[in-house]
Amino acid sequence: MSNPYWSDIVRELDPYVPGEQPKIANLVKLNTNENPYGPSPDVLAAIATESGDNLRLYPDPNALALKQAIADYYSVDVDQVFLGNGSDEVLAHIFQGLLKHDSPILFPDITYSFYPVYCGLYQVPYDRVPLAEDFSIDVEDYCRENGGVIFPNPNAPTGILMSLDRIEWLLEKNSDSVVVVDEAYIDFGGESAVTLVKRFPNLLVTQSLSKSRSLAGLRIGLAIGDAALIEALERVKNSFNSYPLSRFAIVGGVAAFADEQYFQTTCRRVMDSREQLVGQLDELGFHTLPSAANFILTRHPEKVAADLMSQLRARGIIVRYFSQPRIDQYLRITVGTPEQNAQLISALSELVSS
Ligand SMILES: Cc1ncc(COP(=O)(O)O)c(C=O)c1O
Repeated sequence: MSNPYWSDIVRELDPYVPGEQPKIANLVKLNTNENPYGPSPDVLAAIATESGDNLRLYPDPNALALKQAIADYYSVDVDQVFLGNGSDEVLAHIFQGLLKHDSPILFPDITYSFYPVYCGLYQVPYDRVPLAEDFSIDVEDYCRENGGVIFPNPNAPTGILMSLDRIEWLLEKNSDSVVVVDEAYIDFGGESAVTLVKRFPNLLVTQSLSKSRSLAGLRIGLAIGDAALIEALERVKNSFNSYPLSRFAIVGGVAAFADEQYFQTTCRRVMDSREQLVGQLDELGFHTLPSAANFILTRHPEKVAADLMSQLRARGIIVRYFSQPRIDQYLRITVGTPEQNAQLISALSELVSS
């Protein structure tokens, strides 16, 4: 569809399509990498307390209480922290404010599919760099002229983790451009690159409270980097929306970072379930890429992935399928509760034996 009132750029856009949020009750929803456990009870209490007359007032445009909590958590200065309405919004500002240059930016051919969408929106030139045969990112492929580098760690949708020493090497080789490490899934077994921020003024790390802190519905994302990079993002943000975080998001985010025990416990449960799930899939003949995330990418050598996806759906289980070269025989499955995973395994064992 098009319309004469549209601007040229809107006509050319190829928008991101998020995983389905179905309205049907009782589905086993393993398609959008949400946490199967609810947020910390302290988060819910903080939101309930905030719900009152105060809502007639705008929130703090700087969300300073949450920035301070994050700065304390990661031992950085408060001016090294940026916040946005989900890490998607943080990433959007990064593409516009730090990655838009004459040379193309580099990201993997198989990665978070929002990256090329932002390039389309902000007219950022880009090159996709093929993953290695085993689906890992080979940092040597990123040693050429570029306008910036971005990749998730662990990568999505592969789940494969890159070690900190490889990231360090990449940063050293790319000192003239910004390197963005998208750590949406880092808390499920990876080591954060935030510790490298002090040494590398070209490093920007983004994180999300949507996955490991069970707050996809609250929309909180963050970036940590050198104060000069953060200042660029503040300039974009303050030219776009002064109040990206609601009062609920600010108090909920603070409570989430304060409840370390709940965070550690839920992450551990998800990681344990992931290992169990991979073992069970193995027994059914699936090949699963090594994952350090709260999802796995898996294929069955004798089954057509798109068919498996539809057959699971018919049984009330939703997983994600990407009809993209190299991964079109894979399913991306979010790790659920032990009960959800058991339902998945029982359905798959029926399907692979038929
Ligand atoms: C790699 C990656 N980065 C960023 C995001 C965005 O997360 P949010 O906007 O919920 O913080 C996602 C969400 O699925 C993701 O997979």
